[in-house]
Amino acid sequence: MIYEDLKDKKVLVTGSSSGIGQATAILFARQGCYVGVHYFRTKKGAQKTLKQVKEHSNGTVCGGDLRDEKQAREVVEKFAEAAGGIDILVNNAGTMVDRQSFESATLEYHEDVYATNVRSVFLVTRAALPYLKKSKGAIVNIGSVAGHTGGANGSGMYSGAKAAVATETISMAREFAKYGIRVNSVFPGFIETRFHETYSTPERCKEVAKKTPLGRNGTGEDIANAVLFLAGEAAGFITGEYIAVNGGLYMRA
Ligand SMILES: NC(=O)c1ccc[n+]([C@@H]2O[C@H](COP(=O)([O-])OP(=O)(O)OC[C@H]3O[C@@H](n4cnc5c(N)ncnc54)[C@H](OP(=O)(O)O)[C@@H]3O)[C@@H](O)[C@H]2O)c1
Repeated sequence: MIYEDLKDKKVLVTGSSSGIGQATAILFARQGCYVGVHYFRTKKGAQKTLKQVKEHSNGTVCGGDLRDEKQAREVVEKFAEAAGGIDILVNNAGTMVDRQSFESATLEYHEDVYATNVRSVFLVTRAALPYLKKSKGAIVNIGSVAGHTGGANGSGMYSGAKAAVATETISMAREFAKYGIRVNSVFPGFIETRFHETYSTPERCKEVAKKTPLGRNGTGEDIANAVLFLAGEAAGFITGEYIAVNGGLYMRA
C-alpha cells in the first residue's frame, strides 16, 4: 500500500535497528519519507536498516540510550537537524529486559523495565514536541497486547509498563490536540522478531501460533502497516485510539 500523503514526511522511528522498528522504517521509506533510523546497542542493525531505507528514499542513523534524558534529546535533535524537522514520531524502542516474577524480581529490574518502555517514550516525545507542534504532526506509540492481558509468566512488569504507554497515549492525545497533533498506538500481539528469540522458546512460538485464530504469529510488517495508517491522513480524525494487531489472540468486546 502506498500513501501519497506520506511522501517527503520526516519520520523518526525509535528502535529501528531490528524487528518491528526496522520493518516500519523501511515501509515509511517506501512511501518516500526521510527516515530517522535509531539504535541503542545494535549499530550494525541500524546500518542495515538505513541501507534498505536508501533503496527507496533517504534517511540518517542516530544512536542513543533512550532511558537517558540527555541522549534521548540528542537523538531527537540530531534527527531534526538532518531532516529539517519532524512530522511523525514512532515511539517503538522497548523490550522486556528479562523475565522476572513479582516474587523474586529485583528493584533494579523493575526500574529498568519502566525506564526502557515508559520513561523513553516521555523523554523522546517531550524533546520532539516543538518540532511536532510546527508540523502539526502525528505520534504512534507501540504498546502491547500484554498491557491488556497482564502477559505470560515473568512479564508482569513489562505488561504494566505497556499499559502505562497505552494510557499515556490517551493523555497525550488529549493534551496535544490543541496543537493539531494526533497520538495513537498499536498493540502488537505475538510478533516473531529478536524479542521472542530472546524471551521465548521455539516451542512457545509454535504453541502461540497454533492457538492464534488466524493461525500464525505476526511479522514486523503486520505492525508497520497499522503504524503507517495511523500516521497518515487516512487516520486524520483518529486520536487517542489504538489498533490491536494480533491475529485474534486477544479480542475485546
Ligand atoms: N515482538 C513482539 O511480540 C512484541 C509484542 C508486543 C510489543 N512489542 C514491542 O514492540 C517494540 C519493538 O520490539 P521488537 O519485537 O521489534 O523487538 P526487538 O527486535 O528486540 O527491537 C527492540 C528495539 O528497541 C531498542 N531498544 C531497546 N532498549 C533500548 C533503550 N534503552 N534505548 C533505546 N532503544 C532501545 C533496540 O535497540 P538495539 O537493538 O539497537 O539495542 C531495538 O531497536 C518494543 O517496544 C516491544 O516491547 C513487541
